[in-house]
Amino acid sequence: MGARHKPVTSGLNIGIIGAGQMGKGITLTCLLSGYTVNLYDNNKAALSKCAEKIKASLEKFLNQGKITEKHFQKALISLWTHTSFAFLNQMDIVIEAVPEDYLIKEVLFKEINPFLKENTILSSNTSSLSINILAKTIPFAERFVGLHFMNPAELMPLVEIIPCMQTSKATSEKIQLFVQTLGKECVYSKDRPGFVINRLLILLINEAIFLLTEEIATASDIDKAMKLGANFPMGPLALADMIGLDTCLAILETLERELDSIKYRPCPLLKEYVKQGKLGKKSKHGFYQYS
Ligand SMILES: NC(=O)c1ccc[n+]([C@@H]2O[C@H](COP(=O)([O-])OP(=O)(O)OC[C@H]3O[C@@H](n4cnc5c(N)ncnc54)[C@H](O)[C@@H]3O)[C@@H](O)[C@H]2O)c1
Repeated sequence: MGARHKPVTSGLNIGIIGAGQMGKGITLTCLLSGYTVNLYDNNKAALSKCAEKIKASLEKFLNQGKITEKHFQKALISLWTHTSFAFLNQMDIVIEAVPEDYLIKEVLFKEINPFLKENTILSSNTSSLSINILAKTIPFAERFVGLHFMNPAELMPLVEIIPCMQTSKATSEKIQLFVQTLGKECVYSKDRPGFVINRLLILLINEAIFLLTEEIATASDIDKAMKLGANFPMGPLALADMIGLDTCLAILETLERELDSIKYRPCPLLKEYVKQGKLGKKSKHGFYQYS
């Protein structure tokens, strides 16, 4: 961190829709980079919980000496939370981070359209859904783009940019510049299911769940094997818990359907866990237990 989070003074207003784990991480990233952030969720309790977690993370960065007191105070007063869409007419960039489901995202895009000003860039943090399909619900698709942050967004140095067929060059350039002001690198991907990262990563996670199902090794040994044997920073099952097992399942189902390949058939154990409400870290139960 450190220098990466030197505040910028671009004056852009950032709107983030969805105060779950990605909404939280992206908000934190933008605050640390000096932006004013307006965070919306249709669930009041989720919104307050997210704002509390953001404050706690900022305090942690302050206590660790990663940000100054002035930086901390500026970040605190730059966060606004909302449960109605009125704020959207002031936003320069809006980042959608609601659940990985076409219907939820499409309904949301239709709802917010009348509130957006005419030069707003709208982006989706989807992990796997088609940007071109989502663009069909957006009348200004030249200002729509996929912007895929990794989890945890405040720490991961990469963002995937996925233009749709109509995304203008100006939009791609502006969004790339924005990513750079967050201190992050970007890669461009064509709009194909899972883009680059999840097309590769989700196969590994799914296979690790098959290994567990077949009792080839315990969860902790599967993760230990990949950490110490393949130099992964964390094991695939711990990573699945962090991503959210519902999100992992949604990504696999999209890839299986849209790439028409059994390679992406979700492991039955993953389906079972999601059915039981074991969603990983966010529900405190997954391949591991969390307190
Ligand atoms: N979890 C990851 O590791 C990860 C990584 C990269 C991208 N993504 C993508 O980011 C998006 C969000 O994932 P997440 O893990 O943060 O999900 P999450 O379940 O943690 O949070 C989703 C949030 O959206 C809110 N929400 C639901 N419907 C809404 C609506 N109509 N309007 C406003 N808010 C609404 C929920 O209340 C919740 O707070 C998904 O598209 C996911 O694929 C996830």
